[in-house]
Amino acid sequence: MAVLEILTIPDERLKRVSQPVEVFDDELRAFIDDLEETRLDGPAAVGIAAPQVGREQRILIMDVSNTRKPVPNHGYLVLINPEITHWDGYEMGREGCLSVPDYTGNVIRATHIKVKAQDPHGQPLEYEMEGYEARALQHEMDHLDGMLFIDRVVSRRTDLFRRKVYQKGGKG
Ligand code: NI
Repeated sequence: MAVLEILTIPDERLKRVSQPVEVFDDELRAFIDDLEETRLDGPAAVGIAAPQVGREQRILIMDVSNTRKPVPNHGYLVLINPEITHWDGYEMGREGCLSVPDYTGNVIRATHIKVKAQDPHGQPLEYEMEGYEARALQHEMDHLDGMLFIDRVVSRRTDLFRRKVYQKGGKG
């Protein structure tokens, strides 16, 4: 296992659209182990997506179970080729990102979603998510389409906040 280098803004590779995973082999699973080790390195992040370490494939890992938001969640998830099939409601909430180390921002996200994906062996998965977990998924899926949360803030003047200290939690 290895901790991988995380790309940060303004790296242009973060703006690319990632490709679907078609081969579910040991190499993929070894990469997922490295991606998880990278997520947990330093203050653990809520989520990480493959393009953040320069692998332009539709792979993400997330785990909101250790955050302060006491809503139902599914714990540790590896989602490959995720697709949102349903969404409801919206709310503003604060987000951060390993690829945007100096800022947090307020972003509007759906509050209730259904997602289909595959696991590291290619088997189908389906989840309903709400609240902070739904937010984290939408944030990570944006990475797969070359989007960052700073692209979604309504106003960079009022909805972006400089971090004083890189705090634990809340990052994806
Ligand atoms: Ni992120």
